[in-house]
Amino acid sequence: TVQPLLAGKTLTITAGPTREALDPVRYISNHSSGKMGYALAAAGVAMGATVNLISGPVNLPTPVGVTRINVQSAQQMHQQALALAPSSDIFIGCAAVADYRAADIAEQKMKKQGDELTLTLVKNPDIIADVAALSENRPFTVGFAAETQDVATYAQGKLKNKKLDMICANDVSVQGQGFNSDNNALTLFSHDSTQSIALMKKDKLALTVIEAIATKLV
Ligand code: C5P
Repeated sequence: TVQPLLAGKTLTITAGPTREALDPVRYISNHSSGKMGYALAAAGVAMGATVNLISGPVNLPTPVGVTRINVQSAQQMHQQALALAPSSDIFIGCAAVADYRAADIAEQKMKKQGDELTLTLVKNPDIIADVAALSENRPFTVGFAAETQDVATYAQGKLKNKKLDMICANDVSVQGQGFNSDNNALTLFSHDSTQSIALMKKDKLALTVIEAIATKLV
């Protein structure tokens, strides 16, 4: 049985990839499945929270009891996240946000030209860093870090640089966990603790992560 550790709390989660349009028919994106974020949303409901799920395009059903807000681009996700964060007790950035978007979105389908095509990209806003930088009504802010080497160093760097309260680090160089998988292993870093969670199904892992967050809330 799951304890209602988050009764009365509001949890907002970003999940899935973002999709950055190049023209009316093309986009840049990534292989994020959204599974971890959706599992966290379901775990939040199980623990009694009110849950908002800001989701990029994924092929997953909305967990029962979750309010889902569909977005495509990083800029749309940023806008929804900043709108919901101040009324949230906890914000979890689980989305694989595209770091860059096209400088200009062509109004018409781009035509084939020569053998090379150069795209100009511009940086997207860092959604979780902007949430963590809120000066009023700042939620407890939790990020994810997918790393292929020096996992602890890079994850702790992001914890500090983005001013997060907790970061959940994934070693994505290991087969069978992380991106697109049904299983994952994580190490949770906060400013005063480190907790390793062994490889397990994402739904069980999500409950462990939400429980770890709940114990940090005052
Ligand atoms: O810097 P990096 O992309 O590895 O950081 C990952 C964390 O930051 C995740 O929690 C991700 O959801 C969040 N992020 C974000 N906005 C971005 C890039 C990453 O919220 N533009």
